Amino acid sequence: MSYNLLKGKKGIIFGALNSDSIAWKVAERAVEEGAVITLSNTALAIRMGDVDKLAERFNTEAIPADATNVEELEHVFKRSMEIFGGKVDFVLHSIGMSPNVRKGKHYSELDYVMFDKTLDISALSFHKMLHVARKLDAINEWGSVVALSYIAAQRTLHGYNDMADAKALLESIARSFGYIYGRERRVRINTISQSPTLTKAGSGIKGMDKLLDFSERMSPLGNADALECANYCVTLFSDLTSKVTMQNLFHDGGFSSMAMSSRALEQYEKGLGCDCNCGPSESEEEKHKYD
Ligand SMILES: NC(=O)c1ccc[n+]([C@@H]2O[C@H](COP(=O)([O-])OP(=O)(O)OC[C@H]3O[C@@H](n4cnc5c(N)ncnc54)[C@H](O)[C@@H]3O)[C@@H](O)[C@H]2O)c1
Repeated sequence: MSYNLLKGKKGIIFGALNSDSIAWKVAERAVEEGAVITLSNTALAIRMGDVDKLAERFNTEAIPADATNVEELEHVFKRSMEIFGGKVDFVLHSIGMSPNVRKGKHYSELDYVMFDKTLDISALSFHKMLHVARKLDAINEWGSVVALSYIAAQRTLHGYNDMADAKALLESIARSFGYIYGRERRVRINTISQSPTLTKAGSGIKGMDKLLDFSERMSPLGNADALECANYCVTLFSDLTSKVTMQNLFHDGGFSSMAMSSRALEQYEKGLGCDCNCGPSESEEEKHKYD
């Protein structure tokens, strides 16, 4: 259902790869709500993924950029403003990648070149995006910028590895830049801390199936899916949330406020009764399987 919440607004969506991507759903919902958009992703992702098809559907462009490259980000903002014939009203940063996770590195044995890359792609790219937008004065007053985060920024979650550090930095950048951009040009900046969601990036997390099941059982409203996340993004891009800034907003069915639920406890009790290797006798290898 459309509420015309973004009628007349123009936005850039970074990070749509395929129809599972959270950014893909945000693009669809933003257009349904009346926005005009451009898309951006790496040249490789545009070649390998389906983002060109999405651009075609919305009669727009998928503008290639490595989000760690300031010049390429400048091109995205300049080209988007050309297409829009004016400034931008909203931006979605939906970008994350950890080479350490991909290579199965243990958190205590990180490869530091890869760690730098994780932070650059998943967090510094947000700073670079905001820096470029401010320098070009590319965002209209009361514009809204949203990046996607995860609760591993605050709590330790088995297997999330160096992405936890990247998300903590991402959320901090939203606050630090939110102060500057808000004071100067009334641009608001927030992060949404989303439930685990089955996407290409999500499937990189070790033990994702168990994580999804656990958070589903722990959350009174259940996990939030990608479409529900897109709906939340739309509200933050809209004028209805014009005084919300510098926040990390949990969109997780209540998970972040829980410590134990009856549904999780029930499952745990079943586990205690079993005669597999999951109890205190598990081997060292078994214990670290998902680190
Ligand atoms: N899936 C989840 O469980 C989950 C939960 C909370 C938050 N998030 C966050 O949501 C965001 C989107 O992830 P998703 O789950 O939709 O997965 P996804 O794999 O569909 O999206 C990740 C995107 O990042 C892009 N990307 C990677 N490196 C890049 C670079 N150098 N420059 C530009 N783009 C680059 C990829 O091409 C891809 O489009 C990420 O920030 C992710 O951490 C995901």
